[in-house]
Amino acid sequence: MSTFTAKPKVLVARQIFPEGLSRLEEVAQIDYNDQALPLSPAELSQRLEGVDAALVTGSEKIDATTLAQASQLKIVSNIAVGFNNFDISFMTQKKVMATNTPEVLTDTTADMGFMLLMAAARRLTESEHWLRAGHWKNWSLAGMMGVDIHHTTIGIMGMGRIGQAIAKRALAFGMTVIYYNRRRLPLDIEQECQARYVSQEELLSEADHVMLVMPYTQENHHLIGQKELAMMKPTATLVNLARGGIVDENALIEALKNKRIFSAGLDVYEGEPNINPGLLELSNIVMAPHIGSATKKTRLAMMHLAIDNLIAGLSNQRPPNLINEELWK
Ligand code: GLV
Repeated sequence: MSTFTAKPKVLVARQIFPEGLSRLEEVAQIDYNDQALPLSPAELSQRLEGVDAALVTGSEKIDATTLAQASQLKIVSNIAVGFNNFDISFMTQKKVMATNTPEVLTDTTADMGFMLLMAAARRLTESEHWLRAGHWKNWSLAGMMGVDIHHTTIGIMGMGRIGQAIAKRALAFGMTVIYYNRRRLPLDIEQECQARYVSQEELLSEADHVMLVMPYTQENHHLIGQKELAMMKPTATLVNLARGGIVDENALIEALKNKRIFSAGLDVYEGEPNINPGLLELSNIVMAPHIGSATKKTRLAMMHLAIDNLIAGLSNQRPPNLINEELWK
């Protein structure tokens, strides 16, 4: 394929699958970070100098610092649906297109949310650790009792594609679905998900299970703190599938320690991959290392979609998942 006069330069900032690298090598000169570790912001900034496009993940911050020397950059393609690692207004000002990978990970991530909910409600990892440690001597009537999932109320905060997919799973469990979203959904989608729109306060106090699936923005930093946790039922679970910064982890640790809520399921953390040591000490929590979309099929689909976006941008075509659409007008 040779739609380019000279091969453009592309930084591949993280390890990708070989088939993705082959696709990119056909159309571009590649600077490949083949190490397991992300580049430091200084290295990233340096390696963005003189490249036309970059393929990154949520681990790379793309902002004024890392873009300081990127005079030739047309597009940064994120292998993630969330793009809080991008300073979109700065990128737009610099005329750098930003893209993400929606849709291909919706169901896989919704499955993960449901798994965290079930594991937290039914104390799965706590039970397994206890069993592995050799503590199980007898079946007992009151052993490892959890809270029910079926025929309870799920409160979904962030009713985008993933939130809606979780709602549909919840319906199969006979759950009542309530949701909060920045914008109320059109009636047909509400009906499809059999979901009732409520305020954040109503959601927190009515839900037996609270599921966080919204994008992370400056406005919702620490949206769930001490006050919000205090509104929840003592039998409630909290699942965070979105981004760590949405929950004040120290407040969550206190709430779990004092049994203010029943349990939590986390896939994301404030300082990930560093974990607040207070979380590690708790037994009423299920923790995963940010693997919401981690199936081979979905991760491959994310990589290919990110490459489609990148190649479109390099070829002066509108990338299918352009975030800063104003650059195209
Ligand atoms: C993962 O968290 C993603 O945003 O794709």
